[in-house]
Amino acid sequence: MTSNPRVFASHGMESLSVLAGRDLLSPLRERWDCRVWEHARRPVPEEFKALAHPAEGLLCLLTDRVDQDLIQACPRLRAISSFSVGVDHIDLVAATDRGILVGNTPGVLTETTADLAFALLLAAARRVGEASDFLRRGEWAGGHWEIDAFVGKDLHGATLGIIGLGPIGQAVARRAQGFGLRVLGWSRSGREVPGVRGLALPELLAESDFVSVHVALAAETRGLLDARALAQMKPGAVLVNTARGGIVDEVALANALRSGHLGAVGLDVFAQEPAAGDHPLLEFPNAVLTPHIGSASIGTRIRMAELAVDNLVAGLDGHRMPQCANPEVVVKRN
Ligand code: DGY
Repeated sequence: MTSNPRVFASHGMESLSVLAGRDLLSPLRERWDCRVWEHARRPVPEEFKALAHPAEGLLCLLTDRVDQDLIQACPRLRAISSFSVGVDHIDLVAATDRGILVGNTPGVLTETTADLAFALLLAAARRVGEASDFLRRGEWAGGHWEIDAFVGKDLHGATLGIIGLGPIGQAVARRAQGFGLRVLGWSRSGREVPGVRGLALPELLAESDFVSVHVALAAETRGLLDARALAQMKPGAVLVNTARGGIVDEVALANALRSGHLGAVGLDVFAQEPAAGDHPLLEFPNAVLTPHIGSASIGTRIRMAELAVDNLVAGLDGHRMPQCANPEVVVKRN
């Protein structure tokens, strides 16, 4: 063991460890001098940088910005592991240029995230949030059962357009087929998926009653659903986003809800997270909003922690990471 911290974990995973019945960070603590962020609040960038500076391995969350500046401030860094499938918070180019391996957690969260996308789709279509708020406010008490109260949209017989046909998009397609939806799909690579009719994005937007977003956030997808794209959607259509907030122009989205062009939205992700208490989309009762909980089931979060730790252990040992976001980096054995 060295006297310098060799691993910095920006989260102690204490509550998940309780649920798992074991310390999820123990494979790191047992092998390396492991410095762990122990406060309930998140570290500010300067604190993060100071703690990461001496580290050879970094375990981080999707809310930690691992940019070029941070990477340059860590001269010994060899492996970064993120507790997320998305790696848009990490400067992959800067890491790859330095030969730093970057691990992520695809696969283990696919079905759980698809479940949440479907939950938002159903909730937005059937106005579950609005109806629940109405009851909680006490407005049903003393009233009636109304024949047109909270009438929404049927899923069966409708068309779902899936933007991004990776594992999560495909898992949503499987659910949609079970609900009797016709499924359209678009992906940047033109991937073909059985049971999903591939279309160009403008046609998909024009034909879909529901649209669900499943592309990664990258330079090519930032603002993909801008005012022009939203205007191409069917009047009254429902948009669901469980991928990344930066893919959708939130100002344009608020305008599309305000004008009535879109019927409802279901959003788990926001351009800035946590979303501000006065976020413009909060004013819309037909916006079902959740705080980035796509992968938040107990089993999946534990599996993400295990995979993130396994990735870091492998990277520090000079082995191939089980899931590596920059496999082009040559693994250097210790
Ligand atoms: C991810 O892993 O990137 C999801 O957005 C959160 O689990």
